[in-house]
Amino acid sequence: MNKTIIITGGAGFIGSHVVRLFVTKYPDYKIINLDALTYAGNLENLKDIEKSGNYYFEKVNILDVEKLDKIFQNNKPDGIIHLAAESHVDRSILSPIDFVYTNVVGTVNLLNAAKKLWNGSYEGKRFYHVSTDEVFGALGETGFFTEETKYDPHSPYSASKASSDHFVRAYHDTYGLPVVISNCSNNYGPNHFPEKLIPLFINNCIMKKPLPVYGDGLYTRDWLFVKDHATAIDIAFHQGKTGETYAIGGFNEWKNIDLVKLLCKLMDEKLGNAPGTSDKLITYIKDRPGHDRRYAIDATKINKELGWKPSVTFEEGLSITIDWYLQNSDWLKHLTSGEYQNYYSEQYGS
Ligand code: NAD
Ligand code: TYD
Repeated sequence: MNKTIIITGGAGFIGSHVVRLFVTKYPDYKIINLDALTYAGNLENLKDIEKSGNYYFEKVNILDVEKLDKIFQNNKPDGIIHLAAESHVDRSILSPIDFVYTNVVGTVNLLNAAKKLWNGSYEGKRFYHVSTDEVFGALGETGFFTEETKYDPHSPYSASKASSDHFVRAYHDTYGLPVVISNCSNNYGPNHFPEKLIPLFINNCIMKKPLPVYGDGLYTRDWLFVKDHATAIDIAFHQGKTGETYAIGGFNEWKNIDLVKLLCKLMDEKLGNAPGTSDKLITYIKDRPGHDRRYAIDATKINKELGWKPSVTFEEGLSITIDWYLQNSDWLKHLTSGEYQNYYSEQYGS
């Protein structure tokens, strides 16, 4: 095997697309998916590649230092691509401490495991940390986040991600650990857990349940198709410069309500509903506390330096995404029972 790479959080939404890309594109790499399988981790996401000879799964919590050390010492990874995290803002408002443990302490545990294994010999080694644009806080009507934007997190989620980014940079500056960080905008696509805006609303359109829009619905997000994020990670992991940060985004800003209306139109077409059927489900509800008004990324650096750009338009990506959910109703059914129902009632009251 040419390289051994540990991908953390590989059973989650983005991680599963990264694992699939690496397992299929690099048959000479040994890919180890390290994941605790929390509510958001689902091995069904990887059914199509789980029998590949270069794919391995380890059920490990990144809070378990002993197990982490054992896996690092036994496999001697050349690279870590770190995606394991608690990732949902609304859950972070309900229970911030889980975010501190996994996102902050878990990241430091991984940094320590890599530092111990590599022991100052960093040739051919890389610790790639996947972060979010939410660490930069909120934009006004104009302007963009870049690699130079000052951190200003507002939610417990973004505060925990910001903290983990600072630790990753500190391990580079203090111990020379060969790190790369990317901060990406909102992703969407197949295998997205139905607590986030797009998959939640697709599911609710199918179930004819209310579409709960927070506040005035005029919050703006920059949406990127998940496979384009996976491609960006591949490129920045292999070609990015050590110690650098790359901002990744879709050049694709949408106000929530406009996005929801487009989604409703596509859902009605695909479900064979009369036009306007899903729009009637739109329900404005109490705003999310600390809700950031606008996120938008200027992804010029990764475009110019590494040649990356998104491959699909939003309408194409959304259409692929909706088709996937309609064709994978069992995947949705398996997730929308038990723990999901408890969270749903706590968050939305029904
Ligand atoms: P997700 O919630 O779908 O998946 C997270 C995965 O991490 C799950 O498989 C879960 O089982 C695993 N995990 C959680 N806690 C763990 C622990 N203690 N030990 C080991 N595994 C654990 O998340 P996602 O949306 O795929 O996000 C992946 C990464 O990308 C996160 O770091 C997130 O901050 C970042 N990110 C996400 C987005 C987005 O729009 N979803 C955008 C930018 C950056
Ligand atoms: P989300 O998918 O949770 O991503 P993030 O908060 O990380 O950007 O939310 C995207 C936007 O949609 C955000 O402005 C909050 C809003 N939103 C709703 O209006 N209703 C909902 O039920 C959810 C989950 C999100």
